[in-house]
Amino acid sequence: MILVTGAAGKTGRAVISALAKKKQLVRALVRREEQVQRVERLGATDVLVGDMRSKDTLERAVEGAESVYHICPNVSPDEFQVGKSIVASALSAKVGHFVFHSVLHPQVESMPHHWMKMRVEEVLLGSGLNFSILQPAPYMQNLQGQLKDILERGIYSVPYSASAPMSLVDLEDVAEAAATVLTNPAHVGATYELAGPDILTPNQMAETLSRHLNREVHADQIPLEMWRQQARTAGLGGYQLETLEKMFVYYDHTGLWGNPLAMKTLLGRQPTSFSEYVERTIQSG
Ligand SMILES: NC(=O)c1ccc[n+]([C@@H]2O[C@H](COP(=O)([O-])OP(=O)(O)OC[C@H]3O[C@@H](n4cnc5c(N)ncnc54)[C@H](OP(=O)(O)O)[C@@H]3O)[C@@H](O)[C@H]2O)c1
Repeated sequence: MILVTGAAGKTGRAVISALAKKKQLVRALVRREEQVQRVERLGATDVLVGDMRSKDTLERAVEGAESVYHICPNVSPDEFQVGKSIVASALSAKVGHFVFHSVLHPQVESMPHHWMKMRVEEVLLGSGLNFSILQPAPYMQNLQGQLKDILERGIYSVPYSASAPMSLVDLEDVAEAAATVLTNPAHVGATYELAGPDILTPNQMAETLSRHLNREVHADQIPLEMWRQQARTAGLGGYQLETLEKMFVYYDHTGLWGNPLAMKTLLGRQPTSFSEYVERTIQSG
């Protein structure tokens, strides 16, 4: 039995599907009752509803699990506490393999949500557990929220430089790699960065979008202030706003790019390129 936390989110759902394809028994930890059926339909065989911040929930979640795939909610101020707590619970429950869904370049202290993942990695390294760490780049799927603007106005807007070099990765590839790592003990002790095959600036992504959509698409750098207003209207809280702003400042001067070789090895094929992802998204309507 493999426990997947954050199971009803976009990462969790993809990982459950990838594990179900491998005929694995999956226990899903979700936050809300109405998410139970959704994860069951994807192949979860056992679902637990609870709050990850509760020690009691985590203890029940890890009980009897052979492996854990820990996905912390996105930009959570509690990431370090939750990480420490689930590692301790997994240790008490004698979990055989703990895989942590981290992030590309957690070493960057100026991005608090990356840095907290670094600190969870540190706890895991010292825990005595058999561990693996996956460090995915930003997902290509993050573009979904902008598809309407791209299709209707031909504008791909980013709150950082449109010349910043970025590695994106296909979440489907990440989930497949996670399922491979979870089902093969040869990956114990490994830390892998999971990046797609190309390093592209938002300007180059806009060119790719133009080619596939048969219409002009331009990357447009919007001021951080404008992003903040939009994000606040969409309901983002103070910690999330502040943290994501710091991330955009970092992206603006450095970008975020990595190396695709670990991903290629785990998949046994080339990872999905941005161009292939866009083509697939268009075809699926
Ligand atoms: N997005 C990217 O490009 C990217 C790239 C690399 C790494 N990551 C990392 O991947 C992780 C997951 O991201 P995601 O985008 O898949 O997240 P997500 O879609 O927001 O999913 C998080 C899930 O956790 C649930 N949740 C929130 N608080 C909870 C709590 N206290 N107890 C139990 N469940 C709780 C959420 O429930 P509700 O549905 O009720 O909110 C949601 O189902 C994050 O740690 C992120 O840093 C993301």
